[in-house]
Amino acid sequence: MSKTARAYTNIALIKYWGKKNQTLKLPYTNSLSLTLDRFYTDTKACVINNDQDIIYLNQTLLDQTQSQRIRNYLDTIRQMYSFNEHFQIDTVNHVPTSAGFASSASGFAALAAAINETKQLNLDKKQLSILARNGSGSASRSIYGGFVEWIAGSDNETSFAQPIETESEIDLTILSVVINKNVKKISSTVGMENSVKSSPFYPNWVTLVASEIKEIKQAIAKKDVQKIGEIAEHNAMSMHALTLSANPSFTYFEPETIKILQIIHELRQKGILAYATIDAGPNVKIICTKESLKQVQKYIEEQLSNVTCVVANIGSGIQYI
Ligand code: PMV
Repeated sequence: MSKTARAYTNIALIKYWGKKNQTLKLPYTNSLSLTLDRFYTDTKACVINNDQDIIYLNQTLLDQTQSQRIRNYLDTIRQMYSFNEHFQIDTVNHVPTSAGFASSASGFAALAAAINETKQLNLDKKQLSILARNGSGSASRSIYGGFVEWIAGSDNETSFAQPIETESEIDLTILSVVINKNVKKISSTVGMENSVKSSPFYPNWVTLVASEIKEIKQAIAKKDVQKIGEIAEHNAMSMHALTLSANPSFTYFEPETIKILQIIHELRQKGILAYATIDAGPNVKIICTKESLKQVQKYIEEQLSNVTCVVANIGSGIQYI
């Protein structure tokens, strides 16, 4: 009996935004994330006597179109590790309803770990990170808990994530503010590609990330949550500037996104620690301390009636259960 693999989602504090190799998902820059404890994916893989993979998501059988990306990924794994068997995949996303967290990071990390377990590939964490990256770039970081850096590398073997060791606990909590709206979003793949192709600022982004990675690692070592927040917010705004400066221009922001950013500025003026980070969608994740969290949540809920707040703390790496 093979075990179920569990992977937690992660939030990038220094974003991955742009691939230099689409097939291998090799990024232009390193990126740095925090694994969260609140949202995860459980995946189990069983070898089947069939010439096609069978894929269930949240107990529902996916059709060919819905499961194409997963099938393509399983083909990549078969090719990488030279075997032919197909699988039944059972995957369950434990992400609070419309929490605004993309499940691709936890999803592909859990799938890579489930195949490793079932096929007894005996991959170490570095190899597992490489395998997860081939499914989705950000999944490479979900192999580890805590703060994680994904080294861009130059080929399949040199692009992988590694943990950033911290000596003791750090007082950092994430408040995810979900805007209750179904916005048709531009996928991160398409968004990155357009930014790389047409934003005149893309070369500056590559330089900026290199210096912000260094700075944030120093702030993490010092457990300076304010500094971590300042750098993460600036990095997120710079990433979104790449979408606004693309040609044609686009944005993931909604009116409420801007409203929340304004509220965060007001909170800081009141001396409350709160910094924003935003991925390829309208929802805002707020970096807080245990002390500021309650005040931030109260203030947001008072000012905005149509949002949902979800609290997440620092999570762990891949588990087999
Ligand atoms: O791994 P993908 O293709 O889902 O891209 C992730 C892109 C961002 O979430 C915006 C940034 C990141 O580093 O996670």
